[in-house]
Amino acid sequence: MKQILFLFLLFFTFSHAEYLDNHSCNECHEKIYEEYQLSFHTKGYFNDTLHRKIADQVSSEKYSCATCHMPMADNLDELITGAARPDKNNKTHTDAISCYFCHTIAYVKTAHKFNVNTKSRQAKNYKPTLYGRLDNPDDSDKHSSTSNPVYAKRVCMGCHSHKLNDNNITVFRAMETKQNSIGCIKCHMPEVSGGAEKMDKRARGRHKSHKFLGIHDKVFRKTGLDINISTQENKILVTLHNKMEHPLIIQPARVKFLKIELIRANKVIWKNYTKKPSEDKQGYFAYSFKQEGKKIIIPAHADEGESYNLLSKEIKELVYRVPEVQSQDKITVGMYVQLAKDDCAKVVDLTGTNYTEPQLMKETEVIIK
Ligand code: HEC
Ligand code: HEC
Ligand code: HEC
Ligand code: HEC
Ligand code: HEC
Repeated sequence: MKQILFLFLLFFTFSHAEYLDNHSCNECHEKIYEEYQLSFHTKGYFNDTLHRKIADQVSSEKYSCATCHMPMADNLDELITGAARPDKNNKTHTDAISCYFCHTIAYVKTAHKFNVNTKSRQAKNYKPTLYGRLDNPDDSDKHSSTSNPVYAKRVCMGCHSHKLNDNNITVFRAMETKQNSIGCIKCHMPEVSGGAEKMDKRARGRHKSHKFLGIHDKVFRKTGLDINISTQENKILVTLHNKMEHPLIIQPARVKFLKIELIRANKVIWKNYTKKPSEDKQGYFAYSFKQEGKKIIIPAHADEGESYNLLSKEIKELVYRVPEVQSQDKITVGMYVQLAKDDCAKVVDLTGTNYTEPQLMKETEVIIK
């Protein structure tokens, strides 16, 4: 019955129903709403400085980023062609990656440049139907709920999979073509305590977190990577294990880099770089782009691009030549993230802000026996 209903909704329904904004969900899903408010899915043109500054540099007229960053916009086509600009008084703009958008993705079509989210069409004068949990969906006064066999498999890949620019250069790639969203949901939406809605009708007592923790969370970001240190006479061996189902770098503005120190009697006697982390090519993970052979920062018009990365689940051993290691020496290896690389921050005038402040992701240390 549920499958038939799903097919019915997908193929036979009519024009768009009224948009239910984020705040309207708060009435019943208070906890989830609060979590969601802390998440980066609420960030976009109006409250993410880095995003806005890059978007404005790419084009001061067209806002093509809307497809993924403002997907619910009631004038999406106009934003993309430049006939309209982002409007802070329009809820379908300020809601960014909204509850309603995510919960009405019926299918995701795989495509070369970037994937395409297909929305379920809602029947006029009926309450909207939302996709949610795969098992045991339940209705409410405000909306019907249904399970959609493709929902959990594809919901994240419409936006997070990959993006190529007009010259077919990869701007980012987080997912392989065959990969689904189940792993993404498992790590980024763990089950936490509290009912999925205020009344907790089903008395489940637990729900899937909507904080979507990621690189900004100090505790969560430690879990993505293992760092192991070993030594041989005049070598330090650093083994990195990316435990995530995506590359270490999936964001062209970011850099993640290693800081390695060999410390003897409280003095640093060797470091993997002297001034800038980029001096150590093995420990500097980032995208880089060129246009007509010249290095450029913003990838929109690049005709060449590459990334030095740690792929999904990859284990990499880095070897550093150092002065001979002695008993009681201490070695520390830290992986740091900079939300905007120095050169990127410079282009969009964010130097000296917390976007360029290196933040520790994870650190390991050993004392030689
Ligand atoms: C195909 C979907 C898609 C399109 C189109 C897209 N983005 Fe994104 N963008 C994403 C996803 C997914 C993320 C989150 C990935 C991450 O943080 O690693 C993101 C994150 C970002 C971030 C990092 C946010 C921060 O503050 O850390 C910036 C900046 C950004 N995008 C800029 C843009 C700009 C500018 C455009 C338009 C020129 C654009 N994006 C178009 C999907 C897209
Ligand atoms: C009038 C109260 C009310 C409002 C408003 C409301 N919901 Fe619900 N919703 C419920 C109830 C009740 C359930 C069933 C809970 C259960 O199964 O434990 C539910 C279930 C859900 C589910 C889970 C369905 C499933 O598959 O089990 C999703 C997803 C959902 N709501 C999303 C939303 C979103 C998004 C909004 C805002 C656009 C919203 N709801 C607004 C009451 C509401
Ligand atoms: C409609 C497009 C869209 C969909 C669908 C989507 N995301 Fe996102 N997501 C984004 C964008 C855009 C950002 C970056 C926003 C920003 O920082 O400005 C983002 C950011 C994130 C982040 C980064 C958090 C951080 O700290 O930087 C995580 C984690 C994430 N999404 C996980 C998911 C998961 C898991 C799913 C599937 C359940 C999903 N997303 C579905 C567009 C989307
Ligand atoms: C094994 C757990 C795990 C899985 C599976 C996983 N992630 Fe992550 N993800 C993490 C951790 C931990 C971080 C934070 C550390 C980092 O970014 O290096 C993260 C970071 C992110 C970020 C922010 C990166 C940045 O630099 O802004 C996004 C976006 C994201 N994940 C999306 C996804 C998507 C989409 C999927 C499904 C393809 C997914 N994740 C699968 C653990 C996971
Ligand atoms: C980035 C996409 C995304 C956004 C944004 C989002 N959700 Fe969800 N939500 C999901 C996914 C995926 C699941 C299913 C998780 C599962 O079953 O493992 C889910 C599950 C739910 C459930 C069922 C939870 C449970 O454990 O029973 C409710 C209720 C819900 N969402 C409401 C909301 C509300 C309200 C908002 C906005 C405040 C929201 N969602 C925003 C993707 C999203």
